[in-house]
Amino acid sequence: MSEGTEKAHIIVVGNEKGGSGKSTTAMHIAVSLMQRDCNISIVDLDSRQKTLARYLENRLNYAEQHKLKLSIPDVYILGRAMDGDLDQMMFEDTKNFSELMDELHEQSDYILIDCPGSDSNLARLAHSAADTLITPINDSFVDLDLLASVDPDTFKVDKLSLYSEMVWDARKHRAMIDRGTIDWIVMRNRTSALDAKNKRRVNSALKELQKRVSFRYIQGLGERVVYRELFPKGLTLVDFRDTDQKITLSHVAARQEIRRLMDDLQLPNWKLQIEND
Ligand SMILES: Nc1ncnc2c1ncn2[C@@H]1O[C@H](COP(=O)(O)OP(=O)(O)OP(=O)(O)O)[C@@H](O)[C@H]1O
Ligand SMILES: [Mg+2]
Repeated sequence: MSEGTEKAHIIVVGNEKGGSGKSTTAMHIAVSLMQRDCNISIVDLDSRQKTLARYLENRLNYAEQHKLKLSIPDVYILGRAMDGDLDQMMFEDTKNFSELMDELHEQSDYILIDCPGSDSNLARLAHSAADTLITPINDSFVDLDLLASVDPDTFKVDKLSLYSEMVWDARKHRAMIDRGTIDWIVMRNRTSALDAKNKRRVNSALKELQKRVSFRYIQGLGERVVYRELFPKGLTLVDFRDTDQKITLSHVAARQEIRRLMDDLQLPNWKLQIEND
């Protein structure tokens, strides 16, 4: 693309649980797509923390300071409406969101939206607009609790929770708007090499849940210090060949992890572009 005729593919990274790795994941996906020459626009709906926008600001500064040629996408920060009663704020949020989407569809192959770790009008609108919804969850029953509660003795899924119900509503809403479907992907994040028993239990709860709620459950990312360290430089593991960073074995493994994540997302044109490498 982009010839202005087709709509952009909307990727939303969302989970009402704070700190599950949404912004880190979003940044790695964005840079992976840019490395394949895709036009990508970023929307940061977390107008308070602005983690993704800050990540990109750091990238810009680092590239300038070190004279590096790094691709940097346009980023739009959309804050929620603050004035008026609930209906007025909902109206304002909906208007601002759709105007921004209309503008970005014209110029992008992909629109990548990073949601805040809480419920809001804007986050709900983004979920309904998603073609691909990615939900990172940390490897713990505390995080899984937002998707479903589990039986304390058997660890079997008992009933669905808040976030799964919100996504269900978003799917219904989306079907009504344009009969579109949302490819919901739940990925584990920060899986550790230790604590095999917990890992197995969370794994089987997620496998059971994916049939009931209809998401695709993928492996995701391991717990690695490097994901935390790269933020101040605005770099990702995908950039290493274009920078002065020293590459260790752990980085190589992490890069493979990102590559597998990108394959697992099954985004339009992704395979095609890999084949053209
Ligand atoms: N795979 C990982 N390994 C190690 N640390 C990670 C990993 N993924 C994320 N982190 C760290 O976990 C913390 C939370 O990550 P991040 O900010 O991406 O989450 P978030 O879901 O966007 O949070 P919020 O809900 O506050 O927006 C950060 O300190 C980040 O560096
Ligand atoms: Mg975030």
